[in-house]
Amino acid sequence: MHFLHFNLTLSLILCCWLGCGRGQEAGAVLPVVLWHGMGDTCCFPFSLGSIKKLIEEQTNGTYVLSLKIGGNVVLDYESGFFIHPDKQVEYACKQLAKDARLANGYNAIGFSQGGQFLRAVAQRCPKPPMRTLISLGGQHQGVFGLPKCPTLSTSTCEYLSRLLNYAAYEDWVQEQLVQATYWHDPLHDNSYRLKSTFLADINNELYLKVNYIENLNKLKKFVMVKFLNDTIVQPRDSQWFEFYTPGQDREMQPLNQSKVYSNLGLDKMQANGKLKFLSLEGDHLAISKEWFIQNLVPLLLA
Ligand SMILES: *[C@@H]1O[C@H](CO)[C@@H](O)[C@H](O)[C@H]1NC(C)=O
Ligand SMILES: *[C@@H]1O[C@H](CO)[C@@H](O)[C@H](O)[C@H]1NC(C)=O
Ligand SMILES: *[C@@H]1O[C@H](CO)[C@@H](O)[C@H](O)[C@H]1NC(C)=O
Repeated sequence: MHFLHFNLTLSLILCCWLGCGRGQEAGAVLPVVLWHGMGDTCCFPFSLGSIKKLIEEQTNGTYVLSLKIGGNVVLDYESGFFIHPDKQVEYACKQLAKDARLANGYNAIGFSQGGQFLRAVAQRCPKPPMRTLISLGGQHQGVFGLPKCPTLSTSTCEYLSRLLNYAAYEDWVQEQLVQATYWHDPLHDNSYRLKSTFLADINNELYLKVNYIENLNKLKKFVMVKFLNDTIVQPRDSQWFEFYTPGQDREMQPLNQSKVYSNLGLDKMQANGKLKFLSLEGDHLAISKEWFIQNLVPLLLA
């Protein structure tokens, strides 16, 4: 660590001295936007703050914006549970639109539910343009089951689980609990399509919004990272946009046989080589610095 740090410092100093670095390379590396997950720092060997720093180091100081929903840290934390994703996405879109440094485009990294929220940003707000979207443990087909709630007490978590199991599609729950908006009950596919106020919309389940297809296809790459030993996301395959075959909750349906594949233009993206599926061993969001540098940093530099 010390050696690495020393080395980095040294090369930065050398770089300034030789007149290379920032000035010349400005514009070469796109800015990066981060969106955190529910409960924020759960299960995470290093916080979003250090990810920001890591990206800055690895890109010689590109601009990194870590979205803070609601304007302060407390609201930001609560937003992950209690502010409807539509409002959060709208808020994020405004933040991105008024940030002059993003005007020429940016790459985005979503952590957990931040993955599907950033996808909604790509689909709903094509300006400024998102280039590469990296989803870390995102639930693109929602969840069916809430085995653990990061950073919540056990009793609160049990309450939320019961609420989701018995009342996810009630209007008031959809209004007030973020996780209900991407609750995907394969045993009640119609209720899901009609009542999910977020996921069914961004996945074109109820209405086919052509602009969603067009805007998503504007991405250069859509990278989905799945955690093979995830104990929070159920089913794990949702991280790769896959889900149960409708009508039961055991068999998985391959992505290219699912409705969303064509309904959202994922077929076209795949044909154009824009979909990238990565996986690693470990629990939800358990990414090491080494894995991040080896697998994700090159995508930010591409
Ligand atoms: C950052 O600067 C170092 C030293 O000049 C250089 O070797 C490296 O390629 C640069 N990295 C990027 C991403 O520009
Ligand atoms: C993680 O999951 C993979 C794939 O299911 C499995 O091969 C591996 O043994 C698991 N690792 C641990 C540490 O449980
Ligand atoms: C669908 O995807 C599977 C891999 O999951 C692949 O083996 C198969 O060839 C694909 N089918 C079509 C029609 O593209």
